[in-house]
Amino acid sequence: SIVPVILSGGSGTRLWPLSRALYPKQFLALGGEHTLLQQAVQRLQALGHRAGTMGAPLLIGAEGHRFLLLDQLREIGVQPAAVVLEPAARNTAPALALAALAALEDGGDPVLLVSPADQTVGDTAAFTALLAQAVEAAQAGQIVTLGVAPTRPETGYGYIKSTAAADGGPVRRVQAFVEKPDRATAERYLAEGGYAWNSGLFVLKASAWLAALDRYRPDIAAGARAAWAARKLDAPFVRPDKAAFEATPSDSIDYAVMERLPGDAQAPAPLVTLTLDAGWSDLGAWDAVWQVGAADAQGNVAQGDVLFEDSQNTLVHATSRLVATVGVEDLVVVETPDAVLVADRSRSQQVKQIVARLQQSG
Ligand code: GDD
Ligand code: MG
Repeated sequence: SIVPVILSGGSGTRLWPLSRALYPKQFLALGGEHTLLQQAVQRLQALGHRAGTMGAPLLIGAEGHRFLLLDQLREIGVQPAAVVLEPAARNTAPALALAALAALEDGGDPVLLVSPADQTVGDTAAFTALLAQAVEAAQAGQIVTLGVAPTRPETGYGYIKSTAAADGGPVRRVQAFVEKPDRATAERYLAEGGYAWNSGLFVLKASAWLAALDRYRPDIAAGARAAWAARKLDAPFVRPDKAAFEATPSDSIDYAVMERLPGDAQAPAPLVTLTLDAGWSDLGAWDAVWQVGAADAQGNVAQGDVLFEDSQNTLVHATSRLVATVGVEDLVVVETPDAVLVADRSRSQQVKQIVARLQQSG
């Protein structure tokens, strides 16, 4: 069987002032009708029509977000298999271990479709077709990471170097996986070619993830197993043991496992990649929201109650008031009841500096 797994415990801060610790970006509708979390669930479920054996989604997120998680699923009429609530944030490697343990409860060794909760994909049909191929590879025992053709030397992503398959097929063997390289390295990868961005979407058997963690991070595997063994059930919520999970080291899927697999002759499963060409965006910052938004003829994207006069290539997101711009270009304006952001669009990444300053001043 196939189990969609949504990692939704993040707290994206570069979309401040809209995205906050208590209301991170996966719970926001950034232009579309549905929130990013809802879109992620629906996107994975679309495969069910092809595969036929799709289980209900498994959500892994923060205790503090439990009502958001449940309400947003209800809104789209989806009953989760379970919502696993982490008592503390330990990043994605322990989170996926909990998901794998939960998925194994029903017997068998399901293929997990692991998706971040905070991305957009423009072409669901292309996405679904690729996922079907990924599921086949995962069923054959491989660990699949979906890559995206890079367009800039982004340092916030993982990079996948792969070689064409001997059989000429789309499944490529991964030669190297490098998480968040520095700027110079990222520039070199782009110049050299042969690299893809890691989309953060992984397809693999539950047992493959646990075997990989057992090999590379037995401390994380043991911590997650202990937390899972002492879990408390309050359906659909599942609460892993607090003390055991808090004692579990924090690390990401990428650093803990993906970087280690390619160079390891004794790897529990080979790491392979498929190229996702479906309008993927992780909406990392406001310029990405502008990029995927529905623009008018002047390149302006309006979200909420907005008026543009003689303005160009500007994004305005208004939540509680009418916002109007006159004679501006390449701006991002985000209005919320208690904070307003006005930024040069090309410098959207620097919003995280504002968040850091706000955190310092408490
Ligand atoms: N349950 C849970 N618990 N989910 C988490 C946690 C956690 O502690 N931390 C993060 N997540 C979720 C986020 O909500 C997001 O959906 C996903 O896991 C990825 O986490 P990010 O924190 O957004 O990772 P990243 O953006 O730095 O890097 C990852 O994604 C990039 C693509 O967007 C990596 O996989 C990179 O290699 C990749 O390029
Ligand atoms: Mg991210």
